[in-house]
Amino acid sequence: MSSPVFYYLNWIDQLSQGNYNVPETSKARNIQIPGLFDELSTKIEKLTNRLKENELERKKLEKTRRDWTSGVTHDLKTPLSYIQGYSTMLLSDEHQWTFEEKKKFITIIQEKANHMNHLIDDLNDAFRFESNTIQRRIKQLDVVSLVKKIVKDVSKQPAARSKQFRFVSDEETIFYRLDEKLIKRSLVNLLMNAILHNPPNTNITVTVQMNTMLSITISDNGNGMNDEEKNNIFQRYYRGISTSAPIGGTGLGMAIAKQFITAHQGTIHVQSSLGKGTTIVIHLPKQDD
Ligand SMILES: Nc1ncnc2c1ncn2[C@@H]1O[C@H](COP(=O)(O)OP(=O)(O)OP(=O)(O)O)[C@@H](O)[C@H]1O
Ligand SMILES: [Mg+2]
Repeated sequence: MSSPVFYYLNWIDQLSQGNYNVPETSKARNIQIPGLFDELSTKIEKLTNRLKENELERKKLEKTRRDWTSGVTHDLKTPLSYIQGYSTMLLSDEHQWTFEEKKKFITIIQEKANHMNHLIDDLNDAFRFESNTIQRRIKQLDVVSLVKKIVKDVSKQPAARSKQFRFVSDEETIFYRLDEKLIKRSLVNLLMNAILHNPPNTNITVTVQMNTMLSITISDNGNGMNDEEKNNIFQRYYRGISTSAPIGGTGLGMAIAKQFITAHQGTIHVQSSLGKGTTIVIHLPKQDD
């Protein structure tokens, strides 16, 4: 085994078996390695590193997938157990339920089914994106009217009835290339948070500005967050301790918004103080015309 040929054959053999470490070179280096082998060495080493990187990437993705799967299973099981429980009770011959009781049970079943639906939608978006299978559809549009329309639509929701909305922009129009669906999804998540996690009569102000960057801020004068909440808000499945929001949340809203903003090379930050309110700031890079 003293010839460099065997060294390389052994190396390639190891690669084919999924061992991406560069084998001990001492023996081979002791041998007079002619130019051809030197070049071969560099090439195989490059290949080895590439395969190693791919393997790390694959493992990372695999871990994310596992984390997601266990999270999803847990989150889907909880509402499902309500649906099973209440439907079993309704079908039971042992008791005659009154009309009111039946209505109450069916309402719970419906709420839980809606919650599952919401969760599946969120997961679909977030997970498809994670595994790079989401297709971004970039088109140029006016961000001022887009954001204005989103605020208007969201403010019409029954949950938003007790909140006051304001839209501010110094510009008439700002043309920007983006994926409308992803940006809309992010903004709706942020607006729904300002609605659901704050008391009635909270003011919600949305601004759109173009300076060195495109900035979109969603600001409320509601409950605000403590440091723990601020630090974890972008973690998947994290739900604030002080949230008074009724059932229905999955804790994925902010994580999804961040993912979608990041996909536009943008950043998203939170400024918040307890009792004063929360401002979410989105920055998107200026685009060449
Ligand atoms: N504007 C806000 N004011 C106060 N708390 C907020 C605000 N926005 C987010 N939070 C806190 O951050 C947490 C995480 O928000 P996130 O949107 O990720 O999850 P969620 O709203 O609880 O559930 P969902 O997945 O349905 O959006 C919330 O549970 C809430 O405690
Ligand atoms: Mg939310």
